[in-house]
Order: sequence, then structure tokens, then C-alpha cells
Amino acid sequence: MSQSTTNTAAMAEEWSNPLRDPRDLRLPRIAGPCGIVIFGVTGDLSRKKLLPAIYDLANRGLLPPSFGLTGFARRDWSEDEFRAFVRENVESHCRTPFRESTWKQLAAGIRFVQGTFDDPEAFARLSDTVSQLDRERGTRGNHAFYMSVPPRAFPIVSRQLADCGLAKSEDDAWRRVIIEKPFGHDLDSARELDRVVSEVFDPSSVFRIDHYLGKETVQNLLALRFANAMYEPIWNANYVDHVQITMAEDIGVAGRAGYYDGIGAARDVIQNHLLQLLALTAMEEPVSFSAADLTAEKTKVLSAVKLPKDLAAHTARGQYAAGWQGSHEVAGYLDEKGIDPNSTTETYAAIRLDVDTRRWAGVPFYLRCGKRLGKRVTEIAVVFKRAPHLPFESTATRELGKNAIVIRVQPDEGVTIRFGAKVPGGTSMEVRDVSMDFSYGRSFTESSPEAYERLILDVLLGDPPLFPTTREVELSWEILDPIEEFWSTLGQPQPYRSGTWGPAEADEMLARDGRQWRMP
Ligand code: BG6
Repeated sequence: MSQSTTNTAAMAEEWSNPLRDPRDLRLPRIAGPCGIVIFGVTGDLSRKKLLPAIYDLANRGLLPPSFGLTGFARRDWSEDEFRAFVRENVESHCRTPFRESTWKQLAAGIRFVQGTFDDPEAFARLSDTVSQLDRERGTRGNHAFYMSVPPRAFPIVSRQLADCGLAKSEDDAWRRVIIEKPFGHDLDSARELDRVVSEVFDPSSVFRIDHYLGKETVQNLLALRFANAMYEPIWNANYVDHVQITMAEDIGVAGRAGYYDGIGAARDVIQNHLLQLLALTAMEEPVSFSAADLTAEKTKVLSAVKLPKDLAAHTARGQYAAGWQGSHEVAGYLDEKGIDPNSTTETYAAIRLDVDTRRWAGVPFYLRCGKRLGKRVTEIAVVFKRAPHLPFESTATRELGKNAIVIRVQPDEGVTIRFGAKVPGGTSMEVRDVSMDFSYGRSFTESSPEAYERLILDVLLGDPPLFPTTREVELSWEILDPIEEFWSTLGQPQPYRSGTWGPAEADEMLARDGRQWRMP
């Protein structure tokens, strides 16, 4: 094998490795000539996350100078008005400093197409705009289409892209489509969406976004487990008592009522983010970090997930009532603007799942998520069994909990290990819980890129390991569908006061197993 072939192979491998640091100066991952078209460009996600992430990528020098950014929307805007809209949102939400020079270069490639999804002429104009970018800016026919739109719009946008000739990759030019969650609202609708999308796009050019997989700390879970010798030997049913995965938010649904009502907490984040976290926590070591090898291991875990026999005892739902978010008094869910006053949508969900494998036999995985909880925190806590024997008087270990490794996904990203230590002084051997802490903020000087920066760049590079496959999406719906069906027979979820840690039902659920939720 020639030296250059070896180098190319090594580069390809490194590029597809999610543990590789994208800031690595030896091998910066810079996108080649290309452009992105955003559908739903005026929406919340685009304004707060996508446009700023594109700017941040440009600012970090990871986009080509010729990059094209096209917005497609109903508003009757001139190109300059659209540019002003992008600038305003970038300035308000960018992570890296706002620099006129970066902005000028990005702004030169910004285009706007006015139209609705059912209008073939608008798509003909889009096709002209894209060709013009190819000619004038040298984007060379390489374009990504970001569907930041409700799932019901995927089929029509996909068909229009096919009809105007934008959907198919050619030998020397790629076309890719990025699909935002939710991918369906149950297994059947997800399959139907997949059928429609795959009629138009080649499966290898479809990138389903689960932005949790783009978070540095989620990738760090793989580093923690597989780059170290000390965790894997105890990462199993011999030592682990149970696992708690928590995604708590302090915000309510304000501004997103239309999307959220009828969907609820479990479809919104358990079906995707939390089940992906479970899969990464429970999976075996992949042969490599290629997309195929990673997904093979995640798929095995999702296939091995078993629902509790008694759904009433091992699931819980809640809906926030009026209360406090920090020092602000806030309204209950049913009083939020745009919410049906009789809505039975849950804003809190907790479920127990088991992973039926040799490694995890008898170890429950408790998943919980909710809006308007005590604080914003996402964490994975691996809680260990007690030491088999404590050679101390029982009074000396009164305050000793179980050992735990807590991966703090956000905020305050890092890892905490909880263990018992001797209380200093005194004559008896008194033991109490203490923490050992790794914090990203203290150990590294650079701030972590936003998940969307990483994921958008991966799409432009055609690098798929951090995107869930159709099979993973289907398996996740297979897990959730029976729970949703059971809940649909129950009526109103149990109310909980805003600013607290959820409904009493959730505490009772764990108490039945002789356990309790961690206080993050
Ligand atoms: C989204 C959900 O996927 O994740 C939202 O639809 C939620 O309801 C959001 O607020 C939370 O994301 P993050 O990155 O702030 O944890």
C-alpha cells in the first residue's frame, strides 16, 4: 500500500471517529465546496440554533469561503431583508465572537426564496437559485436540505425537491437531506415517513438529527467507557444496582404549544434523546467508531429493552400546575397560550426499562424527563450496589449512600464519582458520602461547540456515525408505543407544582422498587 493510500485511510478513519476532537489543528475537518438550504428558516430552531451554528462554523474556519446559505419561507422578504434577519439572530445567539469579516463572507453567499411548500414554481426558483450559487460561488452542485419543519411537511417538501431535480446526488455532486425530530408520532407513522423520504432520497443521504448525540458530553460517555481501563470491569449487573437517566428542564412550553400539545414529554424526548443515552450507556464496545459498528451495538441494546409487566406500577405521568421558575411565578400548563384547557398531554414522564442481556440482567434503567422542574439538568447516574460487607458499626455509616458515577451532560458538563470517605477527627470510623469531580470548564480552556455545529458539519462532510438509523428510530417507537397506548386510557396526568421535581406518582414508582430518585 502506498504512503498516500495509508494516509487517506487513516484520515478517513479519524474523520469518522466521534471521539476525535474536531478542533484538532493537525487535521481540521473543513467542509468542501457546498451550500445548505433551510426549510422552516423563520422558526425557533433555525433562529436560535441552526443559523448561529452555521455562523460559528464559518467563524471557526470550518466552512468553505464559497459557502451558500439559502432560506426558503413564506414571508415576502427581499434578499437584504432576509440577510438582516439572519444577522440579527446570529448576533443574538452565536457562541463565538461576532466578527464583521466572517459575517461579510457568509452574507455574500446568503440567498432567499419566497414560497410555500405546495408551489412547484417556488421550487423551480429554488432550483435556479441553487444553480446560480454553483455558477457564481462555486458550490459545485453539493447541497444539503435541512427540514426544520413539522413531519407532516416532509412528504410534500421531499416530492417537490424530487420534481425540481434537486433530490438526487450525481457522480460528482452530492445532495443530502437533514430531518429534524420528531420522526413520526408512533411506529406506523415513522415507517410511512421513512417510505416517503426514501422514495426520493438515497438512504445514505438521509441524516436524522438527534441533537443529543452532537453534545460533547454524550460523546465523552464513549471516551469514559472505552478509553479507560477502570470503568468497564464494573459496568455490569455484578456491580451496578440501577441506572437513572434524567433530563429535567425548568422552562415550560411557551411558544411551542402548537408542536408540544398532543405530543408530550415521552414522544418529545424519551423516544429519541433518552433512549439514545440508554443505548450508549448500555452497549458493548463497538468494533470501531464507524457508523455501521456504532449502530450495530446501539441496535442490539434497543432490541433487548423490555417493558415492565405492570405499566401502571412502573411508569408515571405528570402535568405542571402553576408555581415558580426561579423567582418568577408561572402559569400551569393548561393556562398556557395555545394549550387546549382540557389537554391530557403529559409534561413529565418516567418509565422503568430493563435491558435483557447478560451484562444488564436485573438492573433497571429509570428514565425521567419533564418541563418546569426544579432546574435544568441532564445526567446519567450509574448507581452501584452497596459493598457486600461493612466492617463498621451501623451508626458510623448512617449517611453513606450507594457509590455512583454521574455523567453530567449539561449544564456544568463533567463527571462526578460519589463514594464514602472517613469523616476527619473523632474516635470512631465514621463514613460519609463525598464527591470527586471532573468539570469540562475547569479542565479545558475552550468552550464546547454547540451540538448543532458538530452535526451540521458532519452532514456537510458526509460523516454519519452521530445520526440514528431508521432501525434505531423504529425500535425506539416499538418501546414507546405500548406505553403511550396504556397512558391514552388514563385521562388527566397527575399535576405537579412548577419548580418541584415532578408528580408524587414518580416517587412512588421508585419507592416500589425500594429506591429513590437522585436529587441532581
Ligand atoms: C428538544 C425538545 O429536542 O430538546 C425540547 O423538543 C427540549 O422540548 C430540547 O426543550 C432541549 O434541548 P437541550 O439541548 O436544551 O437539552
